Amino acid sequence: MFTPLIKELFSLPADSREVTVRGWVRTKRELKNLIFLEVNDGSCMRSLQCAFDRASADRGVLERLSTGASAEIRGNLVPSPASGQAVELAAQDVRIIGEAPAEAGPGIPAYPLQKKRHSLEFLREIAHLRARTNTFGAVARIRNRLAFGVHEFFQARGFCHIHTPVITANDAEGAGALFQVTALDLQALARTGNGPDYTRDFFGKPAYLTVSGQLEAETYAAALSRVYTFGPVFRAEHSNTARHLAEFWMVEPECAFACLEDNIALAEDFLKALCRMVLRDCAEDLGFFGAHNEKGLAGALQSVVDSAFTPITYTEAIGELEKNAPRAGFAFKPSWGCDLQSEHEKFLTEQLVRGPVVVTDYPKELKAFYMKQNGDGKTVRAMDVLLPRLGEIIGGSEREDDLDKLEQRMEALGMPRPDYAWYTDLRRYGSVPHAGFGLGFDRLVQYVTGMGNIRDVIPYPRALGQADF
Ligand code: 4AD
Ligand code: MG
Repeated sequence: MFTPLIKELFSLPADSREVTVRGWVRTKRELKNLIFLEVNDGSCMRSLQCAFDRASADRGVLERLSTGASAEIRGNLVPSPASGQAVELAAQDVRIIGEAPAEAGPGIPAYPLQKKRHSLEFLREIAHLRARTNTFGAVARIRNRLAFGVHEFFQARGFCHIHTPVITANDAEGAGALFQVTALDLQALARTGNGPDYTRDFFGKPAYLTVSGQLEAETYAAALSRVYTFGPVFRAEHSNTARHLAEFWMVEPECAFACLEDNIALAEDFLKALCRMVLRDCAEDLGFFGAHNEKGLAGALQSVVDSAFTPITYTEAIGELEKNAPRAGFAFKPSWGCDLQSEHEKFLTEQLVRGPVVVTDYPKELKAFYMKQNGDGKTVRAMDVLLPRLGEIIGGSEREDDLDKLEQRMEALGMPRPDYAWYTDLRRYGSVPHAGFGLGFDRLVQYVTGMGNIRDVIPYPRALGQADF
């Protein structure tokens, strides 16, 4: 039978009612007449203080309950004299569920999470245990709130959730950063010296892990009007940075009968709604990150809610960057046609605008084949949302809905037409203006928690040279 969660106990009155809790011991303190166990079950940041009367407590059992051990404790919920908590448990009895030795025994290393601050690098090596720390518990809870919030936001606006495939035959972004999927025995093939024959592979042709669900989402937007997909995507980019994962989660809404301006308004509403939810529902965890990661974190989120996002075209942005280059001292010289580097994004959001920025109308060479071309023949109806401290969080565009223009662009990029016939069909039959974007969900969690490295906002990060656990 389920016992109440600790967060539920904290909302009860201290009326001496009898309760049973289960969780993991964080600390044990011995006073003159009392022994205190701090027990945490991950349902909230706070641990429940369980006070044992030294005279009547089962000392043999308490002796074996060290940091990390799991236990079941029965007692009465009483007012707590300690500050910062309304209730504590006047413990009656305790049962050990699983010990966690503080000292190494024969063949068993000591429990590695002792009561002290561990470095994030060390915790990455024990990612199977790091959720038991305050930091990773709070990341998991905020991530959970945001994931639920994504569905709340879109469901309330008439969007239909679509499950797009993880295995695909297309390269949606045309960037070539694909992980190939095969059922062929590559090692056996290597021994024979023959190359792989993909006609004999599982799908009869090369297949990949998807880099984006967009193209498939577009097909459903062309039938259900407003859709979104939210799933893992995979990119074999050789970017070993604090903002890149090889496996990350993306939220991709796609709307029929929508233009770039509609898309920007949706992205702004969406980010504001998510920040608002976390401010409202995750105050305790946010307070922890405000104290440990980034002073003024809640204020920063509130300012996203309160500020109007500033639109600027790519051409204007480059103009500003060029003008300010001498004073800013960029490592990469900004010039029209070059991608914005993170130092440029930082300048735009933190110096020029001091708030969220939406950069639009990029040179077509910098962006994917599907973006709607502007009349100037040089730029496309793209939008990137940049946030202070983080940089790009959202990338999107109005889509090319003109069949001829789309086919010309695909031709110019050498994309095999038959492979994308299903995609161009959308422009052949009942074509509509449409637009969408992708929000990097892990980057959002990074932004909201102030965690410095994206590898610390997902339980088991997959990144260049890293696929442990
Ligand atoms: O800008 P991107 O590449 O856009 C797309 O994939 C479009 N198909 C989206 C769409 O229009 N439906 O990626 C979208 C977002 C980025 O803005 C960034 O936040 C995140 O995904 N992202 C990554 N996050 C973590 N690790 C990586 N390697 C990422 N690459 C992109
Ligand atoms: Mg992008």
